[in-house]
Amino acid sequence: MGRVDGKIALITGGARGLGEATGRTMAKEGATVVLTDMLDDLGKTVAEEINNEGGNAEYLHQDVTQEGPWDEIVSDIVNRYGRLDVVVNNAGVVLDATVEDTSLAEWRHVNAVNSEAVFLGTRAGIKAMKAQDPKGGSIVNISSVAGLIGIDNLAAYNASKGAVRLFTKSAALHVAQEGYNIRVNSVHPSYTWTPMVQHLGDNTGDRDAFFDALGEAHPLGRPGVPMDIAWGVLYLASDESTWVTGSELVIDGGLTCR
Ligand SMILES: NC(=O)c1ccc[n+]([C@@H]2O[C@H](COP(=O)([O-])OP(=O)(O)OC[C@H]3O[C@@H](n4cnc5c(N)ncnc54)[C@H](O)[C@@H]3O)[C@@H](O)[C@H]2O)c1
Repeated sequence: MGRVDGKIALITGGARGLGEATGRTMAKEGATVVLTDMLDDLGKTVAEEINNEGGNAEYLHQDVTQEGPWDEIVSDIVNRYGRLDVVVNNAGVVLDATVEDTSLAEWRHVNAVNSEAVFLGTRAGIKAMKAQDPKGGSIVNISSVAGLIGIDNLAAYNASKGAVRLFTKSAALHVAQEGYNIRVNSVHPSYTWTPMVQHLGDNTGDRDAFFDALGEAHPLGRPGVPMDIAWGVLYLASDESTWVTGSELVIDGGLTCR
């Protein structure tokens, strides 16, 4: 018996990194996973590998910043699978820039992907989840430790992830008050070794030294690995967390304890 047996899950940014790990984990635990991304070759390969290992997965192209396709993708999933139980709003971009170095166009792009799209995905998920029988579901919004504390070189990213944290609570309250049986939670990872963070390492000029410095920065002595985060998302997606909503699951090797 898997921890999310029979659930239908949409995971954005599912082609690599945390979204890929979450998709593989949820599929192993019995969910049918629909991965969306703009990296089509990678995304198709991940879905194929999941299916070859006995799971159920498919890949769809989606730019999460585009409003129109959200309803189309969610309706398509509901039409073909009968329902939508889980939305993981995971797609994201990072901008390695301070407030002084950030252009308005860059600010808007980071906030469009990391914040506006989380609103679009949450709204689309609620629309489907409240209308199905039995109604309900779990929406998991991937924020960051950058949604909790300031980081000097992540100005736009900080703003976008802080927005996800409080938007999640607003949505959680609304759907609870409406009695939709939907839960909405945020996850706050610290630096986890994915292509996004490897890119930050490359920007320093020495990826290996950056990896070591991340280890020293975290009380538990290492940066995260994608599975550290995937286990947390799995818990929030599963029925093990049916009394958990509007919460902030911090998975950070102790970084924000200090
Ligand atoms: N890795 C970390 O240390 C870390 C820490 C905290 C939070 N996060 C968050 O976790 C999430 C996943 O990050 P990751 O580390 O796996 O990064 P990643 O860059 O490895 O993967 C992000 C994925 O999102 C996709 N994406 C970007 N823009 C998109 C768009 N407009 N439409 C659809 N897909 C899009 C990318 O193509 C990519 O596949 C992000 O929201 C990120 O901000 C990551």
